[in-house]
Amino acid sequence: MTIEVRVPATSANLGPGFDVLGLALGLYNEILYEEADRVAVSVEGEGAEGLDTGADNVVSRGARMVYEAAGRRFHGATIRCINRIPLARGLGSSAAAWVGGLVAANAALGSLLDRDAVLALACRAEGHPDNVAAALLGGLTVSCAVGQRVVAVSLPVPAEVTWVVLVPEAQSSTREARALLPSTVSRVDAVFNLQRMGLLLAALGTGQTDLLGLGMEDRLHQPQRLPLFPWMETVRRAALEAGALGCALSGAGPSLLAAVRGAAEPVGRAMEQALRRAGGAGRAFGLPVDTAGATWNPAGPSPVSVSKEVET
Ligand code: HSE
Repeated sequence: MTIEVRVPATSANLGPGFDVLGLALGLYNEILYEEADRVAVSVEGEGAEGLDTGADNVVSRGARMVYEAAGRRFHGATIRCINRIPLARGLGSSAAAWVGGLVAANAALGSLLDRDAVLALACRAEGHPDNVAAALLGGLTVSCAVGQRVVAVSLPVPAEVTWVVLVPEAQSSTREARALLPSTVSRVDAVFNLQRMGLLLAALGTGQTDLLGLGMEDRLHQPQRLPLFPWMETVRRAALEAGALGCALSGAGPSLLAAVRGAAEPVGRAMEQALRRAGGAGRAFGLPVDTAGATWNPAGPSPVSVSKEVET
């Protein structure tokens, strides 16, 4: 039986919510998965040249993790990846691959693992919970690591906000962007981010979207990552001047995420132009929020979860 999985792109942090917040976006990778007696992976679209097509492929590694966690022997799978999420741009392509492999294999096993177990495995594989939680649950997710577990809540996002992503042509490694971060922070900076993140969630929760500019400010990772993305402040300012409510680095970069009320196009164009003036190149486009998270077909039994989803 072929399992079809769809996993959304994700933008982590939204400024102050480093390793906490994730936003699922309506841009999807698809995976067709069938159990087999060896691993064979084919990749179409993003990463078609370059991604591993054997047992080291991340989707296949995710599948193997599920079998091991469920106490089953993994023989292999035929996996077809149709990739639309750009790689190494801060849009959660690796989270989508882990989550896709985990969800596909779990569906093949009749959902032996519940959703929280899948989330915990995804977080262990990815190293931080924000992208994988949003990829699995959809919406705007708040993640909290509790030992080996992750408690995640998916929140609704005001429909009047459009999210514009600027995707530079140049790739960037998350590992490198994390290596730039100091292991301790000052209390002043910690409080700065706590206040912004609280305000961001309050602004989105109450629809006071005028507060997003303040709520998307950060001191814990963006200034430290400027050496990798020296154009970041110029492009962020261009987005705000063109009418964006707020703008932040998407995950570990290099993409930027802008929140817009009204037309996305002028903001996207201003961001592209500012990046070009700074010597770079990239493409900006608006994306809706994905509210479903990872879905699969045939769906099988509904996995049980202790994570809460807040209804609109
Ligand atoms: N929170 C992570 C980081 C997201 O900023 O390093 C990586 O996509």
